[in-house]
Amino acid sequence: MKIFERKADLNQYIEDAKFDGKSIGFVPTMGALHAGHLALVSEAGKQCDIVVASIFVNPIQFNNKEDLKKYPRTFESDREMLEKTGCDVIFFPSVEEMYPEEVEEKYNFGALETVMEGAARPGHFSGVAVVVKRLFDLVHPDKAFFGKKDFQQLAIIRALTKQMGSPIQIVGMDTVREADGLAMSSRNRRLSAQEREQAVELSQALNFIKQNKNNFTLVQLEANAIEKLSRNFRVEYIQIVDGHSLQSITDWSQSNYPVVCAAAFLGDVRLIDNLEF
Ligand code: PAJ
Repeated sequence: MKIFERKADLNQYIEDAKFDGKSIGFVPTMGALHAGHLALVSEAGKQCDIVVASIFVNPIQFNNKEDLKKYPRTFESDREMLEKTGCDVIFFPSVEEMYPEEVEEKYNFGALETVMEGAARPGHFSGVAVVVKRLFDLVHPDKAFFGKKDFQQLAIIRALTKQMGSPIQIVGMDTVREADGLAMSSRNRRLSAQEREQAVELSQALNFIKQNKNNFTLVQLEANAIEKLSRNFRVEYIQIVDGHSLQSITDWSQSNYPVVCAAAFLGDVRLIDNLEF
């Protein structure tokens, strides 16, 4: 497995691989890897000749300085896991390498970015789009793999490739969960033992909505789900939305692809999760 810290070295490798007619699968990450990330890497390995993963904690997508500071950085164990999962290349750039100059690009995703995560984290998706566009331009993948765990991010990436007129195929992968149902996340390792036990309630609340789909109105379902959570949770939203437009729906007839999305703080750790119906 190769590890590149410089764009020029990655470029050379990619050029050679393309010349040899290899297809390239790309998995962008911020590291602190877990089985959710590795599922993307292993699927990329099944679908493509060469798998490139990037590890870059992207400062411009953090709207909270503390969150950026506390974001876990575990390169050695990430490297081992990627190697075991069949990754061919890790791109591990510094902030200066990715952003040698002040970032000036601006993206507009319209109504996709003004709801949920976009509303709660101003500037977040613009930062995601900037880094993903730059990474795509370096890696030139045939396919790029993203988790549905970050459901809105996946929609934004699809919109980004459309705006770019890019031929890259975006593959969305199901959320990988812990045995009790908690969606795997790099931030979970910051939960205390008690918080970790309670954290599962978020996925339980989403399952409650799915199971009681026909028993209440949508507004009641959302309110009941919030009520089910321990007091320690500070809920930002639990919202049933249309999975394409991401706009809130109040009746099932308003969408042929409903999804329930949630974000909540437990202590100072922000958890997100979602469930398709
Ligand atoms: P990160 O949070 O490291 O996630 C990298 C990829 O792993 C994303 O596509 C995310 O949706 C996916 N992922 C995370 N947890 C998952 C789980 N439990 N099951 C399945 N997939 C999961 O998302 C980012 O990094 C960044 O925003 C990035 C796209 C790299 C841009 O900086």
